[in-house]
Amino acid sequence: MSTNKEDLFKNVISHAKEYGFVFPSSEIYDGLSAVYDYGQLGAELKNNIKTYWWKAMVQMNENIVGIDSAIFMHPKIWKASGHVDGFNDPMIDNKDSKKRYRADNLLEDRITKYERDGKTDKAKQLEADLESCLKNDDLAGLRQLIIDHEIVCPVSGTRNWTDVRQFNLMFSTQFGSIAEDAEAVYLRPETAQGIFVNFLNVQKSGRMKIPFGIAQIGKAFRNEVIARQFIMRMREFEQMEMQFFVRPGTEMEWYQHWKEARLKWHLALGTDPSKYRYHDHAKLAHYANAAVDIEFEFPFGFKEVEGIHSRTDFDLKQHQEYSGKKLQFFDPEINQNYVPYVIETSIGLDRMFLLTLCNAYQEEDLSEGDKTDSRTVLKLHPSLAPVKAAVLPLTKKDGLPEKAREIMNMMKLDFNMQYDEKDAIGKRYRRQDAIGTPFCITVDYESLENNTVTIRHRDSMQQERVSVDQLERIIGDLVSWKNLLS
Ligand code: GAP
Repeated sequence: MSTNKEDLFKNVISHAKEYGFVFPSSEIYDGLSAVYDYGQLGAELKNNIKTYWWKAMVQMNENIVGIDSAIFMHPKIWKASGHVDGFNDPMIDNKDSKKRYRADNLLEDRITKYERDGKTDKAKQLEADLESCLKNDDLAGLRQLIIDHEIVCPVSGTRNWTDVRQFNLMFSTQFGSIAEDAEAVYLRPETAQGIFVNFLNVQKSGRMKIPFGIAQIGKAFRNEVIARQFIMRMREFEQMEMQFFVRPGTEMEWYQHWKEARLKWHLALGTDPSKYRYHDHAKLAHYANAAVDIEFEFPFGFKEVEGIHSRTDFDLKQHQEYSGKKLQFFDPEINQNYVPYVIETSIGLDRMFLLTLCNAYQEEDLSEGDKTDSRTVLKLHPSLAPVKAAVLPLTKKDGLPEKAREIMNMMKLDFNMQYDEKDAIGKRYRRQDAIGTPFCITVDYESLENNTVTIRHRDSMQQERVSVDQLERIIGDLVSWKNLLS
Protein backbone atom coordinates (compact mmCIF):
# COMPACT_ATOMS: atom_id res chain seq x y z
CA MET A 1 0.00 0.00 0.00
CA SER A 2 1.67 3.23 -0.98
CA THR A 3 0.20 6.51 0.12
CA ASN A 4 1.88 9.81 -0.67
CA LYS A 5 2.69 12.15 2.22
CA GLU A 6 -0.11 14.60 1.49
CA ASP A 7 -2.71 11.83 1.41
CA LEU A 8 -1.15 10.26 4.47
CA PHE A 9 -1.65 13.47 6.44
CA LYS A 10 -5.26 13.71 5.25
CA ASN A 11 -5.77 10.12 6.35
CA VAL A 12 -4.30 10.87 9.80
CA ILE A 13 -6.72 13.79 10.21
CA SER A 14 -9.77 11.78 9.21
CA HIS A 15 -8.65 8.85 11.35
CA ALA A 16 -8.31 11.22 14.33
CA LYS A 17 -11.89 12.32 13.84
CA GLU A 18 -13.38 8.93 13.03
CA TYR A 19 -12.00 7.29 16.17
CA GLY A 20 -12.65 10.11 18.65
CA PHE A 21 -9.20 11.66 18.99
CA VAL A 22 -9.74 15.19 17.65
CA PHE A 23 -12.85 17.04 16.46
CA PRO A 24 -13.11 20.52 14.94
CA SER A 25 -14.44 22.88 17.62
CA SER A 26 -18.13 23.88 17.39
CA GLU A 27 -18.52 21.60 14.40
CA ILE A 28 -22.32 21.73 14.27
CA TYR A 29 -21.94 25.50 13.79
CA ASP A 30 -19.42 24.92 10.98
CA GLY A 31 -16.40 25.07 13.26
CA LEU A 32 -14.19 27.80 14.65
CA SER A 33 -11.00 28.36 12.74
CA ALA A 34 -7.87 26.85 14.30
CA VAL A 35 -9.67 25.67 17.43
CA TYR A 36 -10.09 21.96 18.14
CA ASP A 37 -11.66 19.66 20.73
CA TYR A 38 -10.12 16.45 21.98
CA GLY A 39 -12.49 13.48 21.97
CA GLN A 40 -12.72 10.49 24.25
CA LEU A 41 -9.47 8.87 23.08
CA GLY A 42 -7.72 12.15 22.36
CA ALA A 43 -8.21 13.28 25.95
CA GLU A 44 -6.63 10.04 27.19
CA LEU A 45 -3.66 10.29 24.83
CA LYS A 46 -3.15 13.93 25.71
CA ASN A 47 -3.22 13.12 29.44
CA ASN A 48 -0.66 10.37 28.91
CA ILE A 49 1.69 12.73 27.06
CA LYS A 50 1.30 15.24 29.92
CA THR A 51 2.06 12.53 32.47
CA TYR A 52 5.15 11.44 30.56
CA TRP A 53 6.40 15.01 30.48
CA TRP A 54 5.52 15.75 34.11
CA LYS A 55 7.16 12.58 35.39
CA ALA A 56 10.31 13.20 33.31
CA MET A 57 10.62 16.84 34.29
CA VAL A 58 9.19 17.12 37.81
CA GLN A 59 9.07 13.69 39.39
CA MET A 60 12.47 12.50 38.15
CA ASN A 61 14.32 15.74 38.97
CA GLU A 62 14.52 16.50 42.66
CA ASN A 63 15.34 20.14 41.92
CA ILE A 64 12.31 20.77 39.67
CA VAL A 65 8.83 21.49 40.99
CA GLY A 66 5.56 22.01 39.17
CA ILE A 67 2.99 24.79 39.49
CA ASP A 68 -0.35 25.74 37.94
CA SER A 69 -0.64 29.50 37.53
CA ALA A 70 -3.71 31.42 36.34
CA ILE A 71 -4.34 32.28 32.70
CA PHE A 72 -5.30 35.85 33.59
CA MET A 73 -2.41 37.91 34.84
CA HIS A 74 -1.75 41.55 35.59
CA PRO A 75 -1.62 43.44 32.25
CA LYS A 76 1.74 44.99 33.18
CA ILE A 77 3.30 41.52 32.96
CA TRP A 78 2.95 41.55 29.19
CA LYS A 79 4.44 45.00 28.96
CA ALA A 80 7.39 43.84 31.07
CA SER A 81 7.84 40.62 29.11
CA GLY A 82 7.99 42.51 25.81
CA HIS A 83 4.87 40.87 24.39
CA VAL A 84 2.86 44.11 24.09
CA ASP A 85 5.51 45.72 21.93
CA GLY A 86 7.36 42.82 20.40
CA PHE A 87 5.12 39.77 20.00
CA ASN A 88 4.44 40.29 16.32
CA ASP A 89 4.54 38.34 13.10
CA PRO A 90 5.56 39.95 9.80
CA MET A 91 2.50 39.51 7.56
CA ILE A 92 1.89 40.17 3.89
CA ASP A 93 -1.42 40.10 2.00
CA ASN A 94 -2.06 39.14 -1.58
CA LYS A 95 -4.34 41.83 -3.02
CA ASP A 96 -6.06 39.47 -5.45
CA SER A 97 -6.86 36.50 -3.21
CA LYS A 98 -7.11 38.65 -0.05
CA LYS A 99 -5.15 35.90 1.68
CA ARG A 100 -2.65 36.74 4.40
CA TYR A 101 0.70 34.99 4.86
CA ARG A 102 3.63 35.15 7.21
CA ALA A 103 6.34 36.74 5.08
CA ASP A 104 9.11 34.67 6.67
CA ASN A 105 7.19 31.44 6.03
CA LEU A 106 6.80 32.22 2.33
CA LEU A 107 10.55 32.72 2.12
CA GLU A 108 11.34 29.61 4.16
CA ASP A 109 9.17 27.55 1.80
CA ARG A 110 11.12 28.99 -1.14
CA ILE A 111 14.42 27.98 0.54
CA THR A 112 13.08 24.44 0.91
CA LYS A 113 12.08 24.42 -2.77
CA TYR A 114 15.55 25.58 -3.84
CA GLU A 115 17.08 22.82 -1.68
CA ARG A 116 14.75 20.23 -3.20
CA ASP A 117 15.66 21.37 -6.71
CA GLY A 118 19.39 21.12 -5.93
CA LYS A 119 19.87 24.92 -6.11
CA THR A 120 22.00 24.91 -2.98
CA ASP A 121 23.75 28.25 -3.56
CA LYS A 122 20.47 30.07 -4.11
CA ALA A 123 19.02 28.45 -0.98
CA LYS A 124 22.02 29.51 1.10
CA GLN A 125 21.93 33.08 -0.20
CA LEU A 126 18.22 33.46 0.49
CA GLU A 127 18.64 31.97 3.96
CA ALA A 128 21.33 34.57 4.73
CA ASP A 129 19.20 37.43 3.32
CA LEU A 130 16.17 36.29 5.29
CA GLU A 131 18.20 36.04 8.48
CA SER A 132 19.55 39.54 7.99
CA CYS A 133 16.08 41.06 7.35
CA LEU A 134 14.62 39.32 10.40
CA LYS A 135 17.51 40.41 12.62
CA ASN A 136 17.13 44.03 11.56
CA ASP A 137 13.31 44.07 11.52
CA ASP A 138 13.61 45.10 7.87
CA LEU A 139 10.02 44.69 6.67
CA ALA A 140 10.64 46.41 3.31
CA GLY A 141 13.58 44.06 2.79
CA LEU A 142 11.36 41.02 3.41
CA ARG A 143 8.88 42.26 0.81
CA GLN A 144 11.71 42.85 -1.67
CA LEU A 145 12.92 39.25 -1.19
CA ILE A 146 9.40 37.98 -1.91
CA ILE A 147 9.35 40.08 -5.13
CA ASP A 148 12.92 39.21 -6.15
CA HIS A 149 12.35 35.48 -5.72
CA GLU A 150 9.12 35.71 -7.71
CA ILE A 151 6.99 34.17 -4.97
CA VAL A 152 3.35 33.91 -6.01
CA CYS A 153 0.26 33.57 -3.86
CA PRO A 154 -0.65 29.86 -3.77
CA VAL A 155 -4.33 30.80 -4.15
CA SER A 156 -4.44 33.56 -6.81
CA GLY A 157 -1.13 32.71 -8.45
CA THR A 158 -0.26 36.43 -8.65
CA ARG A 159 2.56 38.58 -7.25
CA ASN A 160 0.26 41.46 -6.29
CA TRP A 161 1.57 41.89 -2.70
CA THR A 162 0.90 44.54 -0.04
CA ASP A 163 3.63 45.88 2.22
CA VAL A 164 4.80 43.65 5.05
CA ARG A 165 3.24 44.69 8.38
CA GLN A 166 3.61 43.53 11.97
CA PHE A 167 0.58 41.97 13.74
CA ASN A 168 0.40 41.45 17.49
CA LEU A 169 -0.65 37.93 18.40
CA MET A 170 -2.17 38.46 21.84
CA PHE A 171 -5.91 38.17 22.54
CA SER A 172 -7.31 40.74 24.93
CA THR A 173 -10.52 40.72 26.92
CA GLN A 174 -12.27 42.89 29.54
CA PHE A 175 -11.73 42.31 33.23
CA GLY A 176 -14.43 43.73 35.52
CA SER A 177 -18.20 44.02 35.41
CA ILE A 178 -18.88 47.48 34.02
CA ALA A 179 -17.65 48.04 30.50
CA GLU A 180 -16.38 51.61 31.09
CA ASP A 181 -14.44 50.62 34.22
CA ALA A 182 -13.19 47.39 32.84
CA GLU A 183 -9.49 46.93 32.37
CA ALA A 184 -8.13 45.12 29.34
CA VAL A 185 -6.32 41.91 30.22
CA TYR A 186 -4.64 39.47 27.89
CA LEU A 187 -5.10 35.76 27.54
CA ARG A 188 -1.55 34.53 28.19
CA PRO A 189 0.36 33.78 24.98
CA GLU A 190 2.83 31.55 26.90
CA THR A 191 2.77 29.88 30.30
CA ALA A 192 6.34 30.99 31.07
CA GLN A 193 5.44 34.36 32.58
CA GLY A 194 3.30 32.67 35.26
CA ILE A 195 6.50 30.92 36.34
CA PHE A 196 8.67 34.05 36.36
CA VAL A 197 6.28 36.08 38.50
CA ASN A 198 6.12 33.19 41.00
CA PHE A 199 9.89 32.71 41.09
CA LEU A 200 10.33 34.01 44.64
CA ASN A 201 7.12 32.43 45.98
CA VAL A 202 8.31 29.00 44.89
CA GLN A 203 11.95 29.53 45.79
CA LYS A 204 11.10 30.64 49.33
CA SER A 205 8.18 28.30 50.09
CA GLY A 206 10.01 25.31 48.57
CA ARG A 207 13.42 26.30 50.00
CA MET A 208 14.83 25.81 46.51
CA LYS A 209 18.53 26.29 45.84
CA ILE A 210 19.96 27.29 42.50
CA PRO A 211 20.09 25.52 40.09
CA PHE A 212 16.39 24.64 40.21
CA GLY A 213 13.46 24.51 37.85
CA ILE A 214 9.76 25.37 37.85
CA ALA A 215 7.53 23.53 35.41
CA GLN A 216 3.95 23.92 34.34
CA ILE A 217 1.43 22.65 31.83
CA GLY A 218 -1.33 24.97 30.71
CA LYS A 219 -3.31 26.73 28.04
CA ALA A 220 -1.89 29.52 25.92
CA PHE A 221 -3.64 31.66 23.34
CA ARG A 222 -2.34 33.33 20.19
CA ASN A 223 -4.29 35.09 17.50
CA GLU A 224 -2.40 33.24 14.80
CA VAL A 225 -3.12 34.86 11.46
CA ILE A 226 -2.12 31.82 9.55
CA ALA A 227 -3.58 28.84 11.28
CA ARG A 228 -3.26 25.64 9.31
CA GLN A 229 -2.07 22.06 9.28
CA PHE A 230 -4.69 20.80 11.70
CA ILE A 231 -3.56 21.08 15.35
CA MET A 232 -0.07 22.26 14.37
CA ARG A 233 -0.86 25.95 14.72
CA MET A 234 -3.89 26.72 16.87
CA ARG A 235 -5.37 29.82 18.46
CA GLU A 236 -5.94 27.99 21.76
CA PHE A 237 -3.34 25.41 22.64
CA GLU A 238 -1.41 23.92 25.51
CA GLN A 239 2.24 24.28 26.44
CA MET A 240 4.48 22.25 28.72
CA GLU A 241 7.19 24.63 29.87
CA MET A 242 10.01 24.53 32.37
CA GLN A 243 12.17 27.45 33.45
CA PHE A 244 15.50 26.41 34.95
CA PHE A 245 17.14 29.08 37.12
CA VAL A 246 20.94 29.04 37.14
CA ARG A 247 23.92 31.03 38.35
CA PRO A 248 24.95 33.68 35.76
CA GLY A 249 27.85 32.40 33.67
CA THR A 250 26.74 28.75 33.85
CA GLU A 251 23.84 29.15 31.43
CA MET A 252 25.56 27.70 28.36
CA GLU A 253 26.38 24.46 30.21
CA TRP A 254 22.74 24.12 31.24
CA TYR A 255 21.53 25.07 27.78
CA GLN A 256 23.58 22.19 26.39
CA HIS A 257 22.30 19.89 29.13
CA TRP A 258 18.62 20.61 28.44
CA LYS A 259 19.08 20.52 24.68
CA GLU A 260 20.35 16.94 24.99
CA ALA A 261 17.95 15.89 27.75
CA ARG A 262 14.91 17.02 25.82
CA LEU A 263 15.86 15.18 22.63
CA LYS A 264 16.49 12.09 24.73
CA TRP A 265 12.94 12.39 26.10
CA HIS A 266 11.57 12.33 22.55
CA LEU A 267 13.77 9.45 21.41
CA ALA A 268 12.92 7.28 24.42
CA LEU A 269 9.53 6.74 22.77
CA GLY A 270 11.30 4.65 20.15
CA THR A 271 10.91 7.12 17.30
CA ASP A 272 13.36 6.79 14.42
CA PRO A 273 16.13 9.32 15.29
CA SER A 274 16.39 10.39 11.63
CA LYS A 275 12.94 11.97 12.03
CA TYR A 276 14.36 14.48 14.48
CA ARG A 277 16.82 17.32 14.03
CA TYR A 278 17.98 20.47 15.83
CA HIS A 279 17.48 23.83 14.19
CA ASP A 280 19.32 26.85 15.60
CA HIS A 281 17.25 30.03 15.50
CA ALA A 282 18.18 32.51 12.77
CA LYS A 283 16.46 35.32 14.65
CA LEU A 284 16.73 35.20 18.43
CA ALA A 285 13.62 36.23 20.38
CA HIS A 286 13.91 39.48 22.29
CA TYR A 287 14.77 37.62 25.49
CA ALA A 288 17.27 34.98 24.30
CA ASN A 289 21.04 34.70 23.85
CA ALA A 290 20.83 31.19 22.38
CA ALA A 291 17.91 29.18 21.07
CA VAL A 292 17.34 25.90 19.28
CA ASP A 293 14.26 24.12 18.02
CA ILE A 294 13.76 20.39 18.15
CA GLU A 295 12.14 19.64 14.81
CA PHE A 296 10.24 16.54 13.75
CA GLU A 297 9.63 15.34 10.22
CA PHE A 298 5.85 15.62 9.88
CA PRO A 299 4.23 14.44 6.61
CA PHE A 300 4.43 18.13 5.52
CA GLY A 301 8.16 18.46 6.34
CA PHE A 302 10.44 19.17 9.30
CA LYS A 303 8.70 21.53 11.77
CA GLU A 304 9.34 22.79 15.29
CA VAL A 305 7.90 20.81 18.19
CA GLU A 306 9.91 22.21 21.05
CA GLY A 307 12.18 25.14 21.78
CA ILE A 308 15.10 25.33 24.19
CA HIS A 309 15.96 28.95 24.95
CA SER A 310 18.65 30.59 27.01
CA ARG A 311 16.57 33.54 28.23
CA THR A 312 19.37 35.26 30.20
CA ASP A 313 18.09 37.32 33.16
CA PHE A 314 15.80 39.29 30.84
CA ASP A 315 12.43 38.26 32.29
CA LEU A 316 13.26 38.47 35.98
CA LYS A 317 15.00 41.83 35.49
CA GLN A 318 12.06 43.20 33.54
CA HIS A 319 9.63 42.07 36.25
CA GLN A 320 11.87 43.63 38.90
CA GLU A 321 11.77 46.89 37.03
CA TYR A 322 8.02 46.92 36.29
CA SER A 323 6.88 45.61 39.69
CA GLY A 324 9.46 47.37 41.82
CA LYS A 325 10.01 44.08 43.72
CA LYS A 326 13.41 42.42 44.00
CA LEU A 327 13.60 39.03 42.27
CA GLN A 328 16.99 37.86 43.45
CA PHE A 329 18.58 34.82 44.97
CA PHE A 330 21.19 34.78 47.69
CA ASP A 331 23.73 32.16 46.69
CA PRO A 332 25.44 30.94 49.89
CA GLU A 333 28.18 29.16 47.94
CA ILE A 334 29.55 32.40 46.54
CA ASN A 335 28.03 34.67 49.16
CA GLN A 336 26.31 36.83 46.53
CA ASN A 337 22.87 38.11 45.58
CA TYR A 338 22.00 37.94 41.92
CA VAL A 339 19.16 37.74 39.41
CA PRO A 340 19.39 34.18 38.09
CA TYR A 341 19.76 33.33 34.42
CA VAL A 342 17.15 31.06 32.89
CA ILE A 343 17.14 28.13 30.51
CA GLU A 344 13.67 27.37 29.19
CA THR A 345 12.32 24.20 27.64
CA SER A 346 8.99 24.77 25.91
CA ILE A 347 7.01 22.11 24.08
CA GLY A 348 3.57 22.40 22.52
CA LEU A 349 1.37 19.61 23.87
CA ASP A 350 -0.88 19.66 20.81
CA ARG A 351 2.13 19.51 18.51
CA MET A 352 3.52 16.58 20.50
CA PHE A 353 0.08 14.97 20.16
CA LEU A 354 0.16 15.47 16.38
CA LEU A 355 3.72 14.14 16.21
CA THR A 356 2.69 11.06 18.20
CA LEU A 357 -0.29 10.42 15.96
CA CYS A 358 1.61 10.94 12.68
CA ASN A 359 4.46 8.75 13.86
CA ALA A 360 2.14 5.96 15.04
CA TYR A 361 -0.23 5.89 12.07
CA GLN A 362 0.44 3.03 9.65
CA GLU A 363 -1.50 1.50 6.82
CA GLU A 364 -0.20 -2.07 6.65
CA ASP A 365 -0.56 -4.50 3.81
CA LEU A 366 -1.09 -7.98 5.26
CA SER A 367 -1.78 -9.78 1.98
CA GLU A 368 -0.53 -13.32 1.67
CA GLY A 369 -0.59 -15.19 -1.63
CA ASP A 370 -3.98 -14.62 -3.25
CA LYS A 371 -5.52 -13.36 -0.03
CA THR A 372 -5.58 -9.57 0.21
CA ASP A 373 -5.75 -8.04 3.65
CA SER A 374 -4.76 -4.78 5.29
CA ARG A 375 -5.06 -2.91 8.54
CA THR A 376 -4.73 0.62 9.84
CA VAL A 377 -2.82 0.58 13.08
CA LEU A 378 -1.61 3.18 15.57
CA LYS A 379 1.74 1.91 16.81
CA LEU A 380 1.67 4.06 19.92
CA HIS A 381 4.13 3.45 22.72
CA PRO A 382 2.17 1.29 25.24
CA SER A 383 2.68 3.88 28.01
CA LEU A 384 1.02 6.55 25.85
CA ALA A 385 -1.76 4.41 24.35
CA PRO A 386 -5.22 5.65 25.42
CA VAL A 387 -6.54 2.12 25.99
CA LYS A 388 -4.01 -0.27 27.52
CA ALA A 389 -5.86 -3.50 26.91
CA ALA A 390 -9.14 -4.76 25.51
CA VAL A 391 -10.94 -7.77 26.96
CA LEU A 392 -12.61 -9.83 24.28
CA PRO A 393 -14.70 -12.96 24.93
CA LEU A 394 -14.37 -15.25 21.91
CA THR A 395 -18.14 -15.75 21.79
CA LYS A 396 -21.14 -14.10 23.45
CA LYS A 397 -22.24 -17.31 25.16
CA ASP A 398 -21.24 -20.30 27.33
CA GLY A 399 -20.02 -18.17 30.24
CA LEU A 400 -17.23 -16.45 28.24
CA PRO A 401 -18.66 -12.89 28.69
CA GLU A 402 -18.92 -13.48 32.45
CA LYS A 403 -15.29 -14.59 32.65
CA ALA A 404 -14.24 -11.60 30.52
CA ARG A 405 -16.19 -9.22 32.76
CA GLU A 406 -14.40 -10.66 35.82
CA ILE A 407 -11.06 -9.79 34.22
CA MET A 408 -12.34 -6.36 33.20
CA ASN A 409 -13.45 -5.62 36.78
CA MET A 410 -10.16 -6.88 38.20
CA MET A 411 -8.10 -4.55 35.98
CA LYS A 412 -10.10 -1.42 35.20
CA LEU A 413 -9.04 0.57 38.27
CA ASP A 414 -5.38 0.41 37.31
CA PHE A 415 -5.62 0.41 33.53
CA ASN A 416 -7.84 2.14 31.00
CA MET A 417 -9.59 -0.89 29.46
CA GLN A 418 -12.25 -1.63 26.87
CA TYR A 419 -14.67 -4.55 26.81
CA ASP A 420 -15.91 -5.66 23.39
CA GLU A 421 -18.02 -8.70 22.50
CA LYS A 422 -19.55 -7.48 19.21
CA ASP A 423 -18.51 -8.93 15.79
CA ALA A 424 -15.98 -11.59 14.86
CA ILE A 425 -12.73 -11.61 16.83
CA GLY A 426 -10.66 -10.52 13.80
CA LYS A 427 -12.83 -7.45 13.34
CA ARG A 428 -12.47 -6.60 17.04
CA TYR A 429 -8.68 -6.88 16.82
CA ARG A 430 -8.73 -4.44 13.88
CA ARG A 431 -10.82 -1.95 15.87
CA GLN A 432 -8.29 -2.05 18.70
CA ASP A 433 -5.38 -1.76 16.24
CA ALA A 434 -6.98 1.39 14.83
CA ILE A 435 -7.01 3.10 18.24
CA GLY A 436 -3.56 1.86 19.21
CA THR A 437 -4.50 -0.59 21.98
CA PRO A 438 -1.26 -2.51 22.52
CA PHE A 439 -2.80 -5.67 24.02
CA CYS A 440 -5.96 -7.69 23.44
CA ILE A 441 -6.89 -10.21 26.11
CA THR A 442 -8.98 -12.95 24.58
CA VAL A 443 -11.14 -15.18 26.73
CA ASP A 444 -11.82 -18.56 25.10
CA TYR A 445 -13.10 -21.99 26.13
CA GLU A 446 -9.73 -22.97 27.55
CA SER A 447 -10.00 -19.95 29.87
CA LEU A 448 -12.90 -21.63 31.63
CA GLU A 449 -10.94 -24.86 32.02
CA ASN A 450 -7.59 -23.59 33.30
CA ASN A 451 -7.94 -19.86 34.07
CA THR A 452 -5.70 -18.77 31.20
CA VAL A 453 -6.22 -16.22 28.43
CA THR A 454 -4.29 -15.17 25.35
CA ILE A 455 -2.59 -11.81 25.04
CA ARG A 456 -2.40 -10.62 21.43
CA HIS A 457 0.35 -8.08 20.81
CA ARG A 458 -0.72 -5.25 18.49
CA ASP A 459 2.54 -4.76 16.59
CA SER A 460 3.62 -8.37 16.01
CA MET A 461 0.06 -9.75 16.08
CA GLN A 462 1.58 -12.69 17.99
CA GLN A 463 -0.38 -14.32 20.78
CA GLU A 464 0.80 -15.86 24.03
CA ARG A 465 -1.18 -17.77 26.60
CA VAL A 466 -0.87 -16.59 30.19
CA SER A 467 -2.49 -17.28 33.52
CA VAL A 468 -5.20 -14.81 34.57
CA ASP A 469 -3.41 -14.58 37.93
CA GLN A 470 -0.42 -13.08 36.13
CA LEU A 471 -2.37 -10.63 33.93
CA GLU A 472 -2.15 -7.51 36.06
CA ARG A 473 1.59 -7.93 36.52
CA ILE A 474 2.26 -8.68 32.86
CA ILE A 475 0.22 -5.76 31.51
CA GLY A 476 1.54 -3.53 34.30
CA ASP A 477 5.13 -4.27 33.28
CA LEU A 478 4.41 -3.74 29.60
CA VAL A 479 2.80 -0.32 30.02
CA SER A 480 4.97 0.87 32.91
CA TRP A 481 6.51 4.36 32.84
CA LYS A 482 9.71 2.57 33.87
CA ASN A 483 10.11 1.49 30.25
CA LEU A 484 10.51 5.16 29.32
CA LEU A 485 12.02 6.79 32.35
CA SER A 486 14.49 4.57 34.16
N1 GAP B 1 7.81 30.40 26.26
C1 GAP B 1 8.46 30.28 24.99
C2 GAP B 1 7.53 30.06 23.90
O1 GAP B 1 6.33 30.20 24.05
P1 GAP B 1 7.41 29.41 21.37
O2 GAP B 1 8.48 28.87 20.45
O3 GAP B 1 6.65 30.59 20.91
O4 GAP B 1 8.15 29.69 22.74
C3 GAP B 1 6.85 27.04 22.28
O5 GAP B 1 6.40 28.23 21.70
C4 GAP B 1 6.13 25.84 21.69
O6 GAP B 1 4.72 26.03 21.78
C5 GAP B 1 6.41 25.63 20.21
O7 GAP B 1 7.57 24.88 20.01
C6 GAP B 1 5.17 24.87 19.75
O8 GAP B 1 5.31 23.49 20.01
C7 GAP B 1 4.09 25.42 20.67
N2 GAP B 1 3.26 26.41 19.95
C8 GAP B 1 3.55 27.72 19.75
N3 GAP B 1 2.55 28.32 19.07
C9 GAP B 1 1.61 27.37 18.84
C10 GAP B 1 0.33 27.35 18.21
N4 GAP B 1 -0.18 28.44 17.68
N5 GAP B 1 -0.36 26.20 18.16
C11 GAP B 1 0.14 25.06 18.72
N6 GAP B 1 1.33 25.02 19.34
C12 GAP B 1 2.06 26.15 19.41
